Formats: sequence, C-alpha cells, structure tokens
Amino acid sequence: MKNKKIILAITGSIAAYKAAFLTRLLIKQGAEVQVIMTPSAAAFITPLTLATLSKRPVHTEVISEESWNNHVELGLWADAMVIAPATANTLAKLANGICDSMVGAVYLSAKCPVFFAPAMDLDMWKHPASKKNIETLKSYGNEIIPVGHGELASGLVGDGRMAEPEDIVDFLNNHFNKKLSLKGKVAVVTAGPTYEAIDPVRFIGNRSTGKMGIAIAEKLAARGAKVFLVLGPTSQKTEEEGVETIRVTSAEEMYQAATKHFKKADVAVMAAAVADYRPKTVSDKKIKKKEGDMAVKLERTKDIAKQLGQVKKKGQLTIGFALETNNEKANAKGKIERKNFDFIVLNSLNDKGAGFGHDTNKVTFIFKDGTEKPLKLKLKTEVAIDIVDEIDNLLNISLKK
Ligand code: CTP
Repeated sequence: MKNKKIILAITGSIAAYKAAFLTRLLIKQGAEVQVIMTPSAAAFITPLTLATLSKRPVHTEVISEESWNNHVELGLWADAMVIAPATANTLAKLANGICDSMVGAVYLSAKCPVFFAPAMDLDMWKHPASKKNIETLKSYGNEIIPVGHGELASGLVGDGRMAEPEDIVDFLNNHFNKKLSLKGKVAVVTAGPTYEAIDPVRFIGNRSTGKMGIAIAEKLAARGAKVFLVLGPTSQKTEEEGVETIRVTSAEEMYQAATKHFKKADVAVMAAAVADYRPKTVSDKKIKKKEGDMAVKLERTKDIAKQLGQVKKKGQLTIGFALETNNEKANAKGKIERKNFDFIVLNSLNDKGAGFGHDTNKVTFIFKDGTEKPLKLKLKTEVAIDIVDEIDNLLNISLKK
C-alpha cells in the first residue's frame, strides 16, 4: 500500500462512519488518500473529520463556491478508487453512468481499478435491481468487495453490511500484491474460432467469439506477464497493454504462431475452438453450383495443444479447455492425458449461460492428479481471474521445486 494513491469515495449510508477508520488504516499503511463525498454522505460524517485524517481537503461538489474541482485530474491521479460505503442509489447511478455528483464525475473519469464496498439493508441487497447493477459494474471490470452478514441499521439481520475497514484494506493489498505477480513471465493464449477455406469465399468455421481467451490474456497481462494472443477471426479485440495480438485465420496459421511463441513461454492457455478438420483441397476459384449433391472431403488439422504438450519442458505449463455435452468428466480427463495438460477447464453445454456467445460461463477445473474444482456461474472475466489465480499458483509451486 506504500505510496499508493487512493481515492476514497464516501456515499450516504450509516456505514459512512467506518470510512474514518478506513482512511486511518490506509494512511497508516503509507497510502495517500483523497476523500470525496456525495452531499448525503456529509450528513453522516463531516468532511472536516476526513480532511483531518487524510491530511487533504475533502471534495463534495464538482463546482463549489470558490472553485471547480478537477475530477479528470483526480481520476488520472489515483492507483485505485474505492467507493465505501456504496449505497444502492450510488450503485444504480454509476451502473448507468449518471454523473450528478463529484463521486459520479470522478468514477467516469477514473482510469484505475475501481472497488465497491456496498452497504444496504438485506432486502435492498437481494433486490433484482441491485443484483443487476452489481453485475453491470462487474462487466465494466469493477470489483465488488463482498458484503458482510450480521445486524443491519434497520435492526434486521442478514447480508448487506459493508465489509469491515480491515477487510477492505486486505482486499486492496491483495490487489496490489497480486498485480505484478507474473512480471517477467511469458504466456501464449489461443482464442477464437478458426476458418478453414473451401474456396476463396467459403469456409468451415464455428461460433466461438474469443471472449474467454481474450479475458484470460488481459488478466495475465494485468499481472505483469507478456502475452502473445493468437486470435482467430472474430470482431472481438483487446487494447490491453502487454498483450500482443497475432491475428490468424486457419488452424495451420494458429499452430505456426502458437508453437513459435511457446518456445520462450512459461505457460500456454488453449482457449481457441480450433477446427479439427479442414477441406483436403482448397479450390482457388469460387466453386460453382451443379445439379445434385456435393461433398467436401476433409482431413485432420494439427492439434496445437497436443503438440505443445509433447514439446513442453519442465516448468512450462499448458492449460486446455473442453466443451462437452455427455460423459463430460471422463472425456475431459481423457484430454488431460492425451494432450498432457496441467489442468483443463471443462465447460458443459448442458449448463444455462455457459459456452459460446454468452458473457457468462460455468466451468469445472480438473487437474492432472484428478482433483476437481467446480465453480459457480460467473462472468467470463471472473472465470479468467480464477484461471489466472491457478496459473499463478502452479508457476509458484514449480519455481519452488
Ligand atoms: N485444441 C488445439 N488444437 C486443435 C484442437 C483442439 O489446440 N487442433 C485444443 C483446444 O483449444 C482445447 C482442447 O484442445 O483447449 C480441446 O480438445 P479437443 O480434443 O479438440 O476437444 P474438442 O474440440 O471438444 O474435440 P473432441 O471432443 O471431438 O475430441
């Protein structure tokens, strides 16, 4: 936390009093804290208290009588923005980009990671509108610090209490420490579909969008890895610093790029939906239709994952995906064996919201030794974090060996 620049945005909840403890803890750990507040937060705790603790003036309005507070500059200054407590009202406004306060203006200008510590009554927390707003904020890449369970200001007991200041600080410390845990590591990620040409205008392809693989590449890069993203034909892309995208079309091109970059890599994640077959001959002219049926003879493509599994050296990891409709676990375990994966991410097409085209995914990790880790339905960006956590772990274990 030392020298980290934190914007602490306080909104109007009874839990606002805890923001004073949070400010003190952050300052104690060496952070610079700039407090901003919504006008209603000032009804719960005074700006003077927070200005004294943070040793900086507190901003409550974009335009005050004496000056205009530069929200853009603040948004660029910070290493992290923490909204604590975040009321149901603020969650709803920010999920929709409403910018009627200093907190909204800084949020929309912030380039840094944003963390929400929600605080509300249990029924408000359970309401589908709040749930939807939380999901929307997560889809922007914001992180939600889990709420606590216990007695609430209403006297009711349930979920909705703001996380304790110590837990919020732990959450932030985790974020900063994890951040560069993969610095110096090199990763190859395959993603998206492949198109296998039949003639100059037609191809055999599949519905993969590449979203899962792109999310993994971004999360690996966010922790400091240099990532080569070998991406099949898709409209999806990434601007993440640290990700070098190599655009390919066919399975053969993907194979060439992946095997080349794997030579210097510590880890390869094979998230692409590679065609298993391609037309045996490709017509150089558009094929004209004729009477009757037509057949296209297909031949096998090269198996990228299997090849990397064969050449991988001690310390190199390979991770695969399996998309199954039946005998899921047995099939996935067979793939770990055949392709020498360190672990496989099993998607079941039987699960609602999982697989191609969705923003969510429901997966189970299966490791080489047979252990299984089922995850609940999550956003693909969250699944990507879980996958990168496992990679982080395995790379650290292999370093210690
Ligand atoms: N894979 C690959 N190169 C191929 C085919 C697959 O790298 N030519 C990778 C995928 O990216 C994925 C894993 O291997 O990580 C999937 O294994 P695969 O056996 O191809 O699974 P399916 O495509 O589901 O095929 P099947 O179930 O028919 O064996």
